Amino acid sequence: MSTSSASAGAGPAPTQRLNAKVVGISIAAAVGGFLFGFDTSVINGAVNALSDEFSLGAGLTGFAVSSALLGCAVGAWFAGSLANRFGRIPVMVIAAALFFVSAIGSGLAFGVWDLIVWRVVGGLGVGAASVIAPAYIAEVAPAKFRGRLGSLQQLAIVLGIFVALLSNALIATTAGGSAETFWFGVSAWRWMFMIEAVPAAVYGGMALFLPESPRYLIRRGEVDRASKVLYDYTGEPDVNLKIEQIRTTLEREDTESLRDLVGERFGLKPIVWLGILLSLFQQLVGINVIFYYSTTLWQSVGFDESQALLTSTFTSVMNIVATIIAILLVDRVGRRVMLLVGSAGMAVSLALMALAFSFGQAGADGSVSLPDPWSTVALIAANAFVMFFGTTWGPLVWVLLGEIFPNRIRASALAVAAAAQWAANWAVSASFPTLSDIGLTFAYGLYAGFAALSLVFVYLWVPETKDRELEDMDSLRLSRSSRRG
Ligand code: GLC
Repeated sequence: MSTSSASAGAGPAPTQRLNAKVVGISIAAAVGGFLFGFDTSVINGAVNALSDEFSLGAGLTGFAVSSALLGCAVGAWFAGSLANRFGRIPVMVIAAALFFVSAIGSGLAFGVWDLIVWRVVGGLGVGAASVIAPAYIAEVAPAKFRGRLGSLQQLAIVLGIFVALLSNALIATTAGGSAETFWFGVSAWRWMFMIEAVPAAVYGGMALFLPESPRYLIRRGEVDRASKVLYDYTGEPDVNLKIEQIRTTLEREDTESLRDLVGERFGLKPIVWLGILLSLFQQLVGINVIFYYSTTLWQSVGFDESQALLTSTFTSVMNIVATIIAILLVDRVGRRVMLLVGSAGMAVSLALMALAFSFGQAGADGSVSLPDPWSTVALIAANAFVMFFGTTWGPLVWVLLGEIFPNRIRASALAVAAAAQWAANWAVSASFPTLSDIGLTFAYGLYAGFAALSLVFVYLWVPETKDRELEDMDSLRLSRSSRRG
C-alpha cells in the first residue's frame, strides 16, 4: 500500500458541485435499496397467514422467513464478479428481474416449498442490489458529497421497510381485516407479495437509462464513454485529471478477481477484513431483531396487537428521520465520530433494555411482560437504539463499503463484505427465538456487548474517509497512529 496520499494527486477539488443529474442517478440506483427494505420486511405481515394456509409448524415457518436471507448472501457474493464482467447496470437489471419474478411467484405459490424457492430468488435480487447500489453511487459521486449520496441507499432501505409495513396494513384492512381474507378473489397475503412487482419494474426500467460507472468503463478501456459520463453527470471539474487518477489506480486491472482480495497475512487483505467487520458489527448489535420481531417486543411492554403495529410504524418512521439526520451530518462531521457516538449510544440503550427485561414476568403462554416503570424504560431504550443505529451505523456502513476499497477490488470486496453481512443477519434473526428462550436480558446483553466492542473496533481501526477521493483509497491506513499525520 502506498503511504503517500498525494501519490494519486487527489485531494477534494474545491469546485466540486452537487448537480441535479448525479443526485438523480444516485436516487435511481438507490431504488434497489427500496426493494431490499421492502422485500426483507414484507414477509412480516404475511407470515401468520402463510403458516395457517400451508399448516406450517414453527420450524418450517422460521425457515420460510429466513430462507430469503440466505439467498441474499448468495446474491451478494455473485454480484461482485458479475459487476466486474458485465458492468454495474446489467447487475441492476438482473436484480430487478429477480425481484419481479419473485414477487409474482411468491404471490401465486401453491405450497410452502415453491414459496421458499421464490423467496430465495427474491433474496438473490436483494443481495445483488445491496452490493451494486453502494458501489455505483460511490463511483459516480463527487468526493465531497459521497457520504450524502451514499446514504440515499439506507434512506431507500428504510423507506422500503416503512412502505412494506404500510402496504401490508392497507391490503389487510381493505381486504377486510386480515392477511387471510380475500381481495378480488385472491388472499390478501398474496397481494402483499405481488405488489412488489411494481417497484421492481420501475427499478429495472430506470436502470436501463442510467449511465455506466466511469470507473468500470475505464477498466474496460472505454475512455471516451467514461469521460462523457464524467462530463455529463458527475460534475467533475477536471475530467482529464480524473481519468488519469482512475487509470493509475487500475494499473493491474486485468488481474481483478476474488483472488485479488487475498493478503499476505490473515488470509485476506486488511481492508477486506475491515469491510467484513463493519458488516458483522452492523448486524451483531441486533438491529433486525427489532424490525423482524417487533410485534412480540411491543406486546411485552404492554401493547395489544394493533397498538404494537402502530408502534412498529412509528419506529420505522423514526428510522427514516434518523437517516435524514445522517444525510445532513455525514459529509460535515465525518464517519469516525458518527460511528463512535452510534456505538456508545447503542451500547447504553441495549444495556438498558437488558436491564428492563431482567424485571420481566413470564406469562402462562411463555410471553414476557414488563411491570412499570420498566415497560417505559424498554420502550424508550428500544427507540433510542433505533435512533442511534439509524443516524450512524445503518447508513454509514453502506457508505463505507462503497468507498473504502480501492477501485480495482471494489466490486469483489464489497460482495464479500455484503455476503458476510447477510449471513450475520440470518444468524442473528434465526438465533433470536433460542436466545430469548434463555432470557431476553441475555439476548440484549449480548447485543450490548457487541455494540461496546464495535466502539473499540472503530476507535482502533476505522480510518476517516470524508473528503478523500476514491483514487486515494489505495493509501488508506488502518491504524490509529496513521490518522494523526
Ligand atoms: C441497514 C442494515 C439492514 C437493516 C436496516 C434497518 O440497512 O443493513 O440489515 O434492516 O439498516 O434500518
